[in-house]
Amino acid sequence: SDIEKGTYPHYMLKEIDEQPLVMRKIIQKYQNDNGELTIDQEIITAMNEADRIYIIAAGTSYHAGLVGKQFIEKLAKIPVEVHISSEFGYNMPMLSEKPLFIFITQSGETADSRAVLVQVKEMGYKAITITNVQGSTLSREADYTLLLHAGPEIAVASTKAYTAQLAVLVILAEVTAKSRGMEPNFNLVRELGIIANAMEVLCDEKEEFESIAREFLTVTRNAFFIGRGIDFYVGLEGALKLKEISYIQAEGFAGGELKHGTIALIEEGTPVIAIATQEIVNLGIRGNVKEVVARGANPCIISMKGLEFEGDTFIIPEVHELLTPLVSVLPLQLISYYAALHRDCDVDKPRNLAKSVTVE
Ligand code: G6P
Repeated sequence: SDIEKGTYPHYMLKEIDEQPLVMRKIIQKYQNDNGELTIDQEIITAMNEADRIYIIAAGTSYHAGLVGKQFIEKLAKIPVEVHISSEFGYNMPMLSEKPLFIFITQSGETADSRAVLVQVKEMGYKAITITNVQGSTLSREADYTLLLHAGPEIAVASTKAYTAQLAVLVILAEVTAKSRGMEPNFNLVRELGIIANAMEVLCDEKEEFESIAREFLTVTRNAFFIGRGIDFYVGLEGALKLKEISYIQAEGFAGGELKHGTIALIEEGTPVIAIATQEIVNLGIRGNVKEVVARGANPCIISMKGLEFEGDTFIIPEVHELLTPLVSVLPLQLISYYAALHRDCDVDKPRNLAKSVTVE
């Protein structure tokens, strides 16, 4: 069945490997009989009635929200704010006149997120829950639900749910754009198919990531992830994955922010993992790599075909520039997995963490 490990040593590895399949499943589930991507008309109407969208989430789902904001703003041209659910309740931003709330939650049970949902429902606002679990609390209590169709995610560290969240968010953004009479930004069915293929290529190159983990993360006590633009958000997720399962202290930074403090931490051999998939900031992020290398850092550069430089550590296949997080996160998931393995950590059940946190 879906929830057995089969021949896999860990659920996490199995779930990483399932990502191409999940992409294809999502395309299929969100396609109508004409092969077009579609979302419930009620949800699209709610999107179009909103003057601003508030994404509320925790952990990995929050990181998906940061990327989702880019999708919705760039494609559907609706302003979006992204908030950590545990902060939102007592630190509520000034709301717009017609807010719409989107809760992103793999489990649909996160207490911090639920508390915000209860609060905004009491205020009379509408809410969409994007979740992997049909019938979960946040799904039941929101006005609308969009399902991830990722299958059960057992490993505490979220992998396939993150990429599924991104896929559903981009579909929501593009279907909304279309409903607003905008020119299609791309053929999304095709682009998501390209994503699924690229994911498959990465899943077939596991030894590469095992040796990257061995080279960069076996002995270190810390690691930094840098990126600019959308790559920065992927770096945040990469850092979270690494600290969750390997207990290496890891942080994600915007490349340009390094010199304002974090660069003080760079020592001989400090691993700095740079994500470089965006053309407009390619030179900028490479400048940041030079800065840390000059101070002794050990750079691991994950770039993309067409933007690669000689000596890059790993080059992902080319995908649409807005959709790179769906693919560039896989090397980070796999590197974290192998780092945890090499350090003899309990990959699927890291200490102190729970799969779903049902207390505020
Ligand atoms: C826990 C899990 C994380 C997850 C977060 C939010 O901390 O360990 O992996 O990202 O909760 O969970 P949710 O189910 O709301 O996405």
